[in-house]
Amino acid sequence: MAKIQEEVSRRKTFAIISHPDAGKTTLTEKMLLLGGAIRSAGSVKARKSKKFATSDWMELEKQRGISVTSSVMQFEYEGYKINILDTPGHEDFSEDTYRTLMAVDSVVMILDVAKGVEAQTKKLFKVCRDRGIPIFTFINKMDRHGKDPLELFEEIEEVLGIESTPVNYPIGMGPTFKGVYDRFTKTIEYYGEDEEESTFVSVENYTDLRKQLEKSADEETIEKLMEDLQLLDEAGNPFHLDTVKEGKQTPVFFGSAISNFGVPTFLQHFLQIAPSPFPRESSAGKVNPTDKVFSGFIFKIQANMDPSHRDRIAFLRICSGQYEKGMSTWLERTGKQMKLAQPQQFFADSREGVDHAYAGDIVGLYDPGVYQIGDTICGTKELFEFGDLPQFPPEHFAKVRPKNALRHKQYVKGIQQLAQEGAIQVYRTPKFEDTILGAVGQLQFEVFIYRMKAEYGVDLEMERLSYQLARWVKEGEIPEKAYYSSTSMLVHDYVKRQVLLFKNEFSLNYFLQQNEGITLTESPPKDK
Ligand code: G4P
Repeated sequence: MAKIQEEVSRRKTFAIISHPDAGKTTLTEKMLLLGGAIRSAGSVKARKSKKFATSDWMELEKQRGISVTSSVMQFEYEGYKINILDTPGHEDFSEDTYRTLMAVDSVVMILDVAKGVEAQTKKLFKVCRDRGIPIFTFINKMDRHGKDPLELFEEIEEVLGIESTPVNYPIGMGPTFKGVYDRFTKTIEYYGEDEEESTFVSVENYTDLRKQLEKSADEETIEKLMEDLQLLDEAGNPFHLDTVKEGKQTPVFFGSAISNFGVPTFLQHFLQIAPSPFPRESSAGKVNPTDKVFSGFIFKIQANMDPSHRDRIAFLRICSGQYEKGMSTWLERTGKQMKLAQPQQFFADSREGVDHAYAGDIVGLYDPGVYQIGDTICGTKELFEFGDLPQFPPEHFAKVRPKNALRHKQYVKGIQQLAQEGAIQVYRTPKFEDTILGAVGQLQFEVFIYRMKAEYGVDLEMERLSYQLARWVKEGEIPEKAYYSSTSMLVHDYVKRQVLLFKNEFSLNYFLQQNEGITLTESPPKDK
């Protein structure tokens, strides 16, 4: 097999999505331990708490019990090269999370067995389904009492609108939890308490399974398992690889991440089933991950990743070809040739320079301010671009200014840098150049205020505005009386395009009725 083909097929790039507290940190940590990327449990937590101690912004995360940053972790396991993209576990960060999902080839969703499908997971799920991203489900905390597994499948199907197919099935739950029965390999995986390693016993058939379990489980637990397995065989969804790959069926696994139970077997199945990088659509047609020409796109920009370094990192998802140190590339948006500046890969607790990288890999580029989210980078002068990343129109608006006018320079720099990350949009009023912020979720304002103070030393004064909709002016002249009325406000975006803010749908429709010949759009035209 050609080198590039071999490298691409051993790459698995995925995101873990979950509601806060379902066990994402714990599961990630166990996977990193398996891959030898960290040596002791608690490292990921420790990393989290170190950040808490050094940044007020992270302090906000702690108070809210959320994770604001998305990070990338790479490690090797059983010959596979794994890239895990962390996603913030809060709906207010949906825009950032959605964009991260564009850079993965599959998604692992963690559910807490006691809580099932929670509201925030629903939103993320919809994005995966709409984009046809394969989803794997890990139902966690089986050592605790929770919902009936069949009820959980129903929830997944009803609430999320996707078929579920259990690869393994729990034997008991909480105090009666004995392990799982793997329906694929006909193997019992016994749960060893206190993080003891699992023991495995193969069985021939259900009679054999029952016989084995009689040694350790109570009759009620065995009876329930046998009934459920039979029901699944007769009325459940049979596993179908193509349906999984289309994102229409989710393979379900059970486990207890805290005691590492079910994690290695989950990972083994996942690595076999989950797709490696697949072709992506571009303006020049399908781009194959094994194509010789290098290409990728920027899906995330983050300023001040490390508060002690004050650096800005643009995250590039490689879609084809091979990255080699010192190679020339072109930025599609500007047509300019550029060397990729010191690309880095991210491990559990360190970053390292990259010499080679392939489709599926995520590399971090130092960004002196040249990149924008959605940029395509090509290894050839015959430029092409990947489709636009989804944009989510802001629904919350606020006017801001620095409390201390002497900090104006830092204020301008902070606003510019944080806006480039794409978490918040910045507008100005035409006459007085007041700064108006737009965000998808309210919490983004709080994070913004926090970061402006922690990273740029600027205290902000903020006044919430009661607008809910932003529309770009596509055609027509806006009458001056509509610049600022009781229901609308005209502002300029960062490239001086006109944007109208409206209080609600009613005021938007009224405006359109009154101003024939004006066309408005929900998303800005692409900035060249
Ligand atoms: P998150 O990143 O999704 O927010 O969740 P995290 O892994 O931090 O886990 C949330 C809580 O759930 C933690 O408890 C963690 O120990 C616990 N947990 C994770 N997996 C399991 C599991 O399989 N079984 C049980 N019983 N608990 C689990 P905590 O009290 O908030 O933190 P800690 O004091 O344990 O660190």
